[in-house]
Amino acid sequence: MKRTTPLLLLGLVVLVVVQAQTEDEPAAGEDEQAEPVELFTTPATKMAAATSDFGYNLFRALASQQDGANVFLAPIGVSAVLTQLALGASERAQRQLFRALRYHTLQDPQLHNTLRDLLTSVKTGNKGLSTASRIYLARRLRLKQEFFTAVEQQYGIRPKALQGGSRDTKDINDWVASETGNKVQRLLAKPLPKNPGVNAVAGAYFKGKWVTAFAPQSLQNFQQEGKAPVRVPMMQQENYPIKMGVDSDLSCTIAQILLQNQVSMFVFLPQEVTSNLTALEETLTAEFVQDLGSTLHATHVTLTMPVLKFSYAADLLTLLPDLGLTDWLADQDLEKIAAQPAKLVTVNHKVVMEMAADGDQSAPATSATSHLTYHMDRPFLFLIRDDASGALLLIGRVINPKDLTI
Ligand SMILES: *[C@@H]1O[C@H](CO)[C@@H](O)[C@H](O)[C@H]1NC(C)=O
Repeated sequence: MKRTTPLLLLGLVVLVVVQAQTEDEPAAGEDEQAEPVELFTTPATKMAAATSDFGYNLFRALASQQDGANVFLAPIGVSAVLTQLALGASERAQRQLFRALRYHTLQDPQLHNTLRDLLTSVKTGNKGLSTASRIYLARRLRLKQEFFTAVEQQYGIRPKALQGGSRDTKDINDWVASETGNKVQRLLAKPLPKNPGVNAVAGAYFKGKWVTAFAPQSLQNFQQEGKAPVRVPMMQQENYPIKMGVDSDLSCTIAQILLQNQVSMFVFLPQEVTSNLTALEETLTAEFVQDLGSTLHATHVTLTMPVLKFSYAADLLTLLPDLGLTDWLADQDLEKIAAQPAKLVTVNHKVVMEMAADGDQSAPATSATSHLTYHMDRPFLFLIRDDASGALLLIGRVINPKDLTI
């Protein structure tokens, strides 16, 4: 990376400044002032920033729970299903949920419409994302039809009453598969609990298409902290146009790689081989990532990246206390959902991602001037962002690509 330093000096200085500004950011759930949102000036981009910040908080919680492992999350679908749930909560409980979802900074009286429009915009326009977010409810709760209607009117998706038994598992899995072009299969690997209560389901599929194509993949070494390297399929291309910068505080090199239809992949690649990416994870906010767009520098590199093709599933319920929802979990107040006390008991999330090696265009013929490399041959973080709105679509930590399977 030494060679890159003079070129990236400006980027480095600006990154350091941004870094300093975000350090005072309060943790989720703490009492806090609304953070500055000058960067996000329209209701849509403010909403995108809120869903992204919720996503970063949720990712941090997941990443620290799954220490040293690959973890992935498509947070916007989780925002969607928890917002559907909030339509069934008492005013107090809704306030708590909205705070965790980061909506308290928005002051948007139309927030449901804004979210619905954002979801529509990221799921259309060939960005490669499909999501399936829905609430499933135990029939024994004596469910209130007004809740079904409210969610359906607002989000075009009707919550569903469970029959009880194994039919439910098949029904949920079939619905998620059909909403994602059969790409997210078996969202529920095991049946719901015996007394299922309220269940949130969020499936997501992302298939990214590069603007610039890669050469055919080959097996290469991927380094591991304190272990022998693993041989994994890698995509590589010389003279690949990216934006790049060095963040000396975080000791990492950041790259932005363009996908088709106004989507970007951001990569955070530590300079050392380490499976502890905590410092990086702690840094991520919507504002930090937004600023990267203007501080990274356009260049051409020899780009090497493991083939990212995986599925990942987790029940996110146990992460909710980390989002400041401990009190809410104890007293959920889902009074608009059912006549009897109703409790959220699962938040089943599954994300499937594939990246094709091909792209819209070929890298330009190799010029003698570029000797830079961006070699993703050690643990890294990446995220997929919708550049039009700023919304975080997917985020992941890759520790060992060999463990990635669909
Ligand atoms: C990971 O790094 C952070 C600082 O970046 C440190 O506080 C923490 O103890 C480290 N965790 C492990 C398991 O080494």
